[in-house]
Amino acid sequence: MYLNKETIADIKQSTNIVDVIGEVVSLTKSGRNYLGLCPFHKEKTPSFNVLEDKQFYHCFGCGRSGDVFKFLEDYRQVTFAESAGILAERLGLDLKLPTRQTNPAQVSPHQPLYSINQDAERFYKAVLKTTKVGEEARQYLYRRGLTDELIEAFDIGLAPGEPDYLYRSLSQKYEESVLMDSGLFNLSDQTNRFYDAFQNRIMFPLRDEFGRVIGFSGRVWQQSSGSDRQGQAKYKNTRATAIFNKSYELYHLDKAKPVMAKTHEVYLMEGFLDVIAAHRAGIENAVASMGTALTPEHVNHLKQLTKKVIVTYDGDSAGQHAIAKSLELLSDFVVDIVRLPDQLDPDEFVQAKGPEALEKLLEQSRISRVEFLMHYLLPENSDNLQAQINYVDKIATLIAQTPSITAQNSYITKVADLLPDFDYFQVEQAVNNQRLQMRGQLSQSLETGGALQTVTVELPVAKQMTALRRAENQLFHRMLNYPYVFNDYRLRGDFYFETPELQTLFKVLEQEGELDSYVLAGLDDRTQAAYYAVLEERLPEEVTEKELQELDKQRQRLLAQQDIRKQGKLVRETTSLGDQEAALIALEALIAQKRKLE
Ligand code: UTP
Ligand code: MN
Repeated sequence: MYLNKETIADIKQSTNIVDVIGEVVSLTKSGRNYLGLCPFHKEKTPSFNVLEDKQFYHCFGCGRSGDVFKFLEDYRQVTFAESAGILAERLGLDLKLPTRQTNPAQVSPHQPLYSINQDAERFYKAVLKTTKVGEEARQYLYRRGLTDELIEAFDIGLAPGEPDYLYRSLSQKYEESVLMDSGLFNLSDQTNRFYDAFQNRIMFPLRDEFGRVIGFSGRVWQQSSGSDRQGQAKYKNTRATAIFNKSYELYHLDKAKPVMAKTHEVYLMEGFLDVIAAHRAGIENAVASMGTALTPEHVNHLKQLTKKVIVTYDGDSAGQHAIAKSLELLSDFVVDIVRLPDQLDPDEFVQAKGPEALEKLLEQSRISRVEFLMHYLLPENSDNLQAQINYVDKIATLIAQTPSITAQNSYITKVADLLPDFDYFQVEQAVNNQRLQMRGQLSQSLETGGALQTVTVELPVAKQMTALRRAENQLFHRMLNYPYVFNDYRLRGDFYFETPELQTLFKVLEQEGELDSYVLAGLDDRTQAAYYAVLEERLPEEVTEKELQELDKQRQRLLAQQDIRKQGKLVRETTSLGDQEAALIALEALIAQKRKLE
């Protein structure tokens, strides 16, 4: 059987989440649910709940929740597909995981574009291997530490320094539209003739994850002669085509993929030569973005394949800023960072210290997200007391969110060592304040929620729930269980949820017809968590017309109140800015709304 919506539903149907979690967490029955110590954060008092009737888990300590697939994803650090594989195996089923089509090229409507890129690759490789200028280019590559073996392994080639050498060799074989759309040629305005897009560059073929050549990146290699060479970009990529989107594709992903399936992690690097350096160190699961910073598309692409990213950017200050940026995009991943010494990139490091040293660095010198930020955010002028205080505030929040207490303590020691005016106890105090603040937020939410008051919480992160959020949760809960309620709201046309995650779920439900494990797995963590929060709402089994009306009214009222708060703020702001006219308009809107409410 193959992985699809139906098999996912079958697996879920035949599996009891209590058994699966019970294999790794010791659970005790408590009322209708099971309770245990959370495997995702450190705690001494159990706050990890498994709800057998609803087949999901929720931790009141760290806020994590999900179904049986999500549990395995997080517990074993595997992808959704892999978690399905594990559960299928448990059930004795033979599940073929999606290898997609083994030869997708055969069925693609873009077949001619793949062919022409493959021909171009062959052409560039031949130029590098067999021509006189190719010999010079190879000397350049040897000087940079590449060998014939590496040149072959990465299919490196050379675009000759002539205007239409490639064009002349391919123009007979392909239709004009293919030549045009391939990105390999440009049309000259003056002569209305094609000329080669790449000239006099070392050529790196770019492949998609199935190994098909989809474009090239060319690097300048000769000292610039004459003024026309000045200001040329070091690397030039194929322009966007029907088969090449550089915001999505990652260099070397085709080779990295099978290794990622075993190690469950990927090294993210800056340049092609860095990936080649990793290969020299025996590490195949390294990829690089192609001439752009990391994009959300890259991140989504990686998310289908792994849960853990090891960011391995250059050791210079541009590299450090790029790491900090990437950390924001990679918030759903487990992230480690390898910091390269002496401003080096992996390629320069392997040249200076050799492949074994690089292997050791990549495998053994990783630091955590918090540790990286601890150094990255450290104020330059560490004599400035206010700067130190601000820094400690920021870092204390990050430390307090760290699950392991031992790690927290070692972070506190490190921060104290970094700051001249703080000792261990002062930093610890700041972290404790953060812990208390988070705990306060949680107990408030428990009070309003009314659930499980007795649970002592070690490291709560759950946020306080507003009345509006609560009302929307209940409304969505009813929509999930009563299709007619969903339909009623769907057909209103102007209805939307104020809570962005609920609005996403609402739209997905509209498109997909249901929110099963398969659909949920494609959503981000926040949205998934929002879904389980909805399931947790405890409502009477039967819905009444009265309840629905009250819910609707309450939601409207809370929305209007929120608007009034916003308007009021606007009136205050505009008045204090002296903008009389704007203030008047805002005031009128405010009055109109208050009337509506009465
Ligand atoms: P680097 O300048 O760090 O490249 O740019 P590198 O791989 O270390 O190359 P060498 O060692 O100088 O030969 C990192 C990546 O940024 C993109 C390329 O993808 C490159 O691999 N880049 C860089 C461009 O797209 N254009 C440029 O002009 C420079
Ligand atoms: Mn380099």
